[in-house]
Amino acid sequence: MKYIIFNWKSYLNIAESMNLSKIVSKLPSTKKYKLICSPNNFYNLSLKSRYPKNIYAAQNIDLHGKGASTGSIDIEDLVNNKIKYCILGHSEVRSNFGETDLTVQKKTDLCLINKIKPIVCIGEPLKIYKSKKTKFFLKKQINKIFKKSNNYEEVVLAYEPLWSIGTGLTPKLSEIDDILGFLSKILENYSFKKINILYGGSVNLSNIKDILSLQNLNGVLVGSASTKSSFIKHFK
Ligand code: 13P
Repeated sequence: MKYIIFNWKSYLNIAESMNLSKIVSKLPSTKKYKLICSPNNFYNLSLKSRYPKNIYAAQNIDLHGKGASTGSIDIEDLVNNKIKYCILGHSEVRSNFGETDLTVQKKTDLCLINKIKPIVCIGEPLKIYKSKKTKFFLKKQINKIFKKSNNYEEVVLAYEPLWSIGTGLTPKLSEIDDILGFLSKILENYSFKKINILYGGSVNLSNIKDILSLQNLNGVLVGSASTKSSFIKHFK
């Protein structure tokens, strides 16, 4: 079973999000894929109440909790509304809102305490990739986000090279495979009930077959291509 996560970011309006959710809801159920829709947080509940069988992910939460926090999306809102997954540490949240690995660590813990499965994003900027320091960079991110003393329930870890997001560029398959092997190895130092490693960054209909053919890959996190109905219909 491979995770296919549709990260619709803030590309769509409510009608377009509804339309795609409807398409997801009509796909025949399959053991091959676990499809997860991640609409703009504002639409999650409307979509969930209209197409309750789909699986939804929030695009972020924050750490302030209920109370005097204007603009906050509290973990309780996910729990009470049965939104089972939450994307954390996405590069756009990191760059637009200054999210750090430490914040991602706290949010990951908060999700797990509340039985929400975190989809934790990591990935190196172009400069690091070019200087061949990707592994060093990713190891540092992992060390900051996860604690060796914790016993983690199921976690989804998405490797999204920043230079690949929204650019049409992807690493070579052999490079993704090499990173998967590396990540699996360093994650052995931590205790996870289950860890799923995904790839994200310019996944589309022309490269998805090759990417999903990687044995050690547990799925993909897809941005702009996932806003097209033709992409979603691929997962029958
Ligand atoms: P693109 O698929 O648009 O490159 O975005 C990837 C991504 O950021 C998924 O979270």
